[in-house]
Amino acid sequence: MSVYSEEKWISWMDELSEKDYVIVDDFITDELYQQIMGFFKKLEEQEELKKAGIGSSLDFQVKKEVRGDLIYWLEQQRDTSVSGFFELMEELSEKLRRFCFISLSGSEFHLAKYPAGTHYDRHIDQFNNRNNRQITVLIYLNENWKKGDGGELKIYNDDGNILVEPIAKRLLLFKSDVVEHEVLKTNVPRYSLTGWLLHQPAALGYLFG
Ligand code: OGA
Ligand code: NI
Repeated sequence: MSVYSEEKWISWMDELSEKDYVIVDDFITDELYQQIMGFFKKLEEQEELKKAGIGSSLDFQVKKEVRGDLIYWLEQQRDTSVSGFFELMEELSEKLRRFCFISLSGSEFHLAKYPAGTHYDRHIDQFNNRNNRQITVLIYLNENWKKGDGGELKIYNDDGNILVEPIAKRLLLFKSDVVEHEVLKTNVPRYSLTGWLLHQPAALGYLFG
């Protein structure tokens, strides 16, 4: 059973194919939003969020000047309080295979908190030694975001750059190998759920280099 009609999925997938990115407002329900944020707040209290690094596990570096977020990697088996999110991602993957002809197997997702004053420099989401990220998935979680709070995602685009405001329940998808982007400095704590749909499981990356 799908939350969204086939027509909606097709129009989003068409937009992604044409523009390399698509934004869908109110993508997640209020119920799912509350589940994700409830879990996120619990992790924050228990100090389970860790400084994010740059590069894959082979060349892991923590560089605060490049990227200042704190993350928690989600695991479907363990983190059952957000099982609704994983179900939605299964559905998304199925639509991408069917309507965009993207071959996908596997995914990785983390919760990310950018404390006030942090940012993420301009980059793309594929690494030199690991190029299996196909589609970047972002779900923004900032309920009362307003202009001046900062933390917009800047997409560098030939036809002009785009600023995406990180407002709650908004989905952003883009092609991981081509879309250059940057998280502008946030002036308030900024919350998101970020992930990647993969071409082959991350754990196998080293076999293929
Ligand atoms: C990333 C990233 C963008 C955002 O984690 O690679 O670019 O808007 N995040 O949080
Ligand atoms: Ni990125």
